Amino acid sequence: MEGKIHRMIAQARDVAYHYIRRDEEGRVVRDTAALSSVSFDIERGEFIAILGHNGSGKSTLAKHLNGLLTPGEGAVLIEGMDTRDGEQIWNIRRIAGMVFQNPDNQIIGQIVEEDVAFGPENLGVPPQEIAERVQEALARVGMTEKRRFSPNKLSGGQKQRVSIAGVLAMRPKILILDEPTAMLDPEGRREVLEAVHSLNRRERITVILITHDMEEAVDADRIYVMDGGRIALTGTPREVFAQAEQLAAIGLTVPMAVAVAGLLRQEGLAVEGTPLTQEELVEAICRAADKITGDIK
Ligand SMILES: Nc1ncnc2c1ncn2[C@@H]1O[C@H](COP(=O)(O)OP(=O)(O)OP(=O)(O)O)[C@@H](O)[C@H]1O
Ligand SMILES: [Mg+2]
Repeated sequence: MEGKIHRMIAQARDVAYHYIRRDEEGRVVRDTAALSSVSFDIERGEFIAILGHNGSGKSTLAKHLNGLLTPGEGAVLIEGMDTRDGEQIWNIRRIAGMVFQNPDNQIIGQIVEEDVAFGPENLGVPPQEIAERVQEALARVGMTEKRRFSPNKLSGGQKQRVSIAGVLAMRPKILILDEPTAMLDPEGRREVLEAVHSLNRRERITVILITHDMEEAVDADRIYVMDGGRIALTGTPREVFAQAEQLAAIGLTVPMAVAVAGLLRQEGLAVEGTPLTQEELVEAICRAADKITGDIK
């Protein structure tokens, strides 16, 4: 397998994981099943959104993708490397970078540039190259101007972009973001999503975005919906959001445009398809209205 380019950058094969708590004598006092029978193949360059209500296993799954957790059963492969292979773990962590919800817990440097340099420093990158990587990473998230700022002086969205730059400076091929916008205001959310989409489109970085926000999943290539530690639904956003009833059954909603189209249908207007955005909704309504005027004529 060595040297082979894997089209599938991340794979899960029947993964099961339990959080097990033991007492001093080693007896199991709590056993929480967090993942069961999870399988997927993620292709290089894909943008994947993972949805699911609280406790459905999203973060546990994310932590499996860079070896922070390893499967109790089954296997996770990153570029064909098994996350249980201790010799590969640093290669895996280099390929799969994680960004978490709270930027304040991730930023440790006193100055933006210093913070972004920590990752490559830990990898033992030579100083000259660190400087290049830091500059490049900050440019990629549009934070060059703030490079000498104290992170305290930044907005939430800016801090989160610095966190992303810190991961980018390690030159990952996969960016795993666990609810990166949950603590941000709408402006911060937009900034972070734009940065992530641009990395995916322009540089073909594989993105795995965990989110509670249905609108953030609309632009993904594919969605995985988690429920009770399993993948309950998967498909393109249009395929997944067409299944409003199944989503409701597991406690999830649909994007605004899909919901409005559904309400209009209940009111008797023949809005067709699954419009995902406001623009698509307006088009679908116009088509339905044209049909009515056509019928009257
Ligand atoms: N460190 C832990 N110890 C014990 N149980 C845990 C731990 N972390 C998570 N769990 C349990 O594992 C299950 C999956 O949790 P996980 O954090 O992966 O869900 P999630 O989908 O990320 O939830 P959220 O939307 O709240 O972030 C839940 O039942 C949770 O209570
Ligand atoms: Mg979580």
